[in-house]
Amino acid sequence: MKKDLLKMLDLSGEEILEILDLADQLKYDQHNGIPHRYLEGKTLALIFEKNSTRTRVSFETGMYQLGGHALFLSGKESQIGRGEPVEDTARVLSRYCDGIMIRTFAQEEVETLAKYASIPIVNGLTDFAHPCQVLADLMTVREHQAHLDGLKMCFIGDGNNMANSLIVGGLKVGMEVAVACPEGYRPDPQVLEFAKDKPFTLTDDPKAAAKDADVIFTDVWASMGQEEEREKRAKAFAGYQVNEELMALAHPGCMVQHCLPAHRGEEITAKVFEDHAEEIFDEAENRLHAQKAVLVLLMGERK
Ligand code: CP
Ligand code: NVA
Repeated sequence: MKKDLLKMLDLSGEEILEILDLADQLKYDQHNGIPHRYLEGKTLALIFEKNSTRTRVSFETGMYQLGGHALFLSGKESQIGRGEPVEDTARVLSRYCDGIMIRTFAQEEVETLAKYASIPIVNGLTDFAHPCQVLADLMTVREHQAHLDGLKMCFIGDGNNMANSLIVGGLKVGMEVAVACPEGYRPDPQVLEFAKDKPFTLTDDPKAAAKDADVIFTDVWASMGQEEEREKRAKAFAGYQVNEELMALAHPGCMVQHCLPAHRGEEITAKVFEDHAEEIFDEAENRLHAQKAVLVLLMGERK
């Protein structure tokens, strides 16, 4: 049976670690000029119904480095934007390609695509989840801290796709997870249900969440598709900024991670961002390696 990467909830802790181990090896290979053309002759379609810099470039570059090819399809310019059903797109692309990455709004669209496609589907961000990003995030934390188990992960801000995926990913690899969100902006109920009997706390107090944290995550207050709510959200999230005062409560050596793009002066101060820029850009780089690992495991036969 084909395998997909639709959300962190679908992966076991062991599967996450298997992806991270392969990602580490592929990073080593790439940095040392060791060929790793595990997807020679394979094509990955990239469907984008939202903007992207990192996701597009890392998937396109990653496929090239693996000996394959990536095909960019913008929602607007393909028949998808004119309403061709996802069920049909799935079956057509399955006749040409070896895998599909999709970035869109509703998680249901990705699940339907996976149901009708006979090739692996990778979620490159929906309103519900951003699993590729969180695999890169866990890879980066493990690289810097040498392990994941027992570390305290903190997320400050909107209970959005990043929060949903971080909570599940962190808990599955044995981290303690603390999230601070304002009322009305909490993570998805499915995620809270998953987290309820695990080392997880949800609070509206950023200081409580940041206390003794080993890594602090944040993300924009208004995600793609929520641009019109920007002012309302800026009010709701005042006080949910990752700044020096908050960092002082964390464990010494606490990392900061941001999936990017970042809004300095909103969810994070310019000072905290620049103090942790090395870690944040390692995180961005690791999108490439983590996704290559996912693609090899879903689409390839390792030689
Ligand atoms: N972090 C992330 O997914 O970036 P892009 O929106 O640039 O792809
Ligand atoms: N939460 C953000 C993440 C961007 C990578 C968004 O969905 O726009």
